[in-house]
Amino acid sequence: MAQPVPPTLRAILERRSLTRLLAPGPSFEQLELVLRAALTVPDHGSLRPYRFLVVEGEGRARFGRALALSLEAHRPGATPVELEWVSKKAYLAPTLVALVAAPHRGHKVAEWEQLATAACAGYAITLAASTLGLGAIWKSVHYPLDARAKALLGLLSEEVCLGWINLGTPAPGFAPPPRPELSPAGLTTVFDGGEPRGFAPR
Ligand SMILES: Cc1cc2nc3c(=O)[nH]c(=O)nc-3n(C[C@H](O)[C@H](O)[C@H](O)COP(=O)(O)O)c2cc1C
Repeated sequence: MAQPVPPTLRAILERRSLTRLLAPGPSFEQLELVLRAALTVPDHGSLRPYRFLVVEGEGRARFGRALALSLEAHRPGATPVELEWVSKKAYLAPTLVALVAAPHRGHKVAEWEQLATAACAGYAITLAASTLGLGAIWKSVHYPLDARAKALLGLLSEEVCLGWINLGTPAPGFAPPPRPELSPAGLTTVFDGGEPRGFAPR
């Protein structure tokens, strides 16, 4: 008999990122719920090795500037047009939640575990926002925030920005197609006492 899919799991299976996001952004109450969801992620040692920057309204100018400063540092030959283009990424949604990994250096919980926890927080934000009917998409730039950008955003030197999640009202008519059928078979190896095998009914 087919396994019934409960609504919470259906929400996970059917979540899609939305790129076209309009005002209004999330209400305070929605945002609080979304961030609370992020605080539930698996976290070895309960270190909370992450924090969030909520960027909205005029605050987007500062975030856009941080992106442009970082591009300038990464590629000193970047043109004014390119710098302008990257700074405009901050304006693609009414609200951005930048995800900051804040690792506890030298802790017995390895740094990679802490980064994994921080990344889970990003997923939780994306998923929780979707379940509230908000549009959400995780965005990034392929270079790190430089020291000037970090100072502008109040990041410590050991902190790392893992990108940001755009949040807003889904634009009508831009829903992505349903997710294609998902199969874990090609990505999964089963060790059950015999030769390692692919994922298939027992
Ligand atoms: C850390 C991280 C950074 C990402 N950065 C971008 C990005 O800059 N631009 C983009 O189009 N997608 C980016 N993505 C992918 C999208 O968030 C999204 O997952 C992808 O478009 C697939 O859509 P789906 O979530 O509906 O499967 C990023 C994902 C992660 C986890």
